Amino acid sequence: MKAGRKASKDGYSHKFRAIYDHEVKWESDDVRGLLKLPPGVKVKVLNYDPVMKRIDMKQRFPAGYVEPRHTHTSWHSILVTKGRMCVAGKDLRPGDYVFGWDIPHGPYEYPDGCEVFIVYMGDATHVWEKKDLLKHALKWKPKTVTGKKGVVRHLKKRQAGKI
Ligand SMILES: [Fe+2]
Repeated sequence: MKAGRKASKDGYSHKFRAIYDHEVKWESDDVRGLLKLPPGVKVKVLNYDPVMKRIDMKQRFPAGYVEPRHTHTSWHSILVTKGRMCVAGKDLRPGDYVFGWDIPHGPYEYPDGCEVFIVYMGDATHVWEKKDLLKHALKWKPKTVTGKKGVVRHLKKRQAGKI
């Protein structure tokens, strides 16, 4: 075995990686089911460490999406990279940050859609109540045409119970 390719004492890969964004495809989390959030979220898993149970990924929320108040056993560090994330009374933009763990947090509104880079440490399964999402009154207005259409689409889905 070549130097630098040995398994480390702690058993996980320390292999250096440099990845172009286009090398990793977006996939629907509705299929993979890492997050178990209401349908519509896309994920791009960049790195997964099964020993540390750490996932580095991007998440993409469509315009109008609402992420219900939730909790999870993992912690997460989130950096907004595109669009808007509206949570805790704040209209977060690229460069802004969110931390969450096992204390209930949210709801999050994404009136114009959003992309984030996120690190989860532990099980990323979200625990949430459908009734919380059904009764949620939107607080944030979209600022783009895409957002306006997205919010209408979201409300129609919600009225039809397709969440
Ligand atoms: Fe969370």
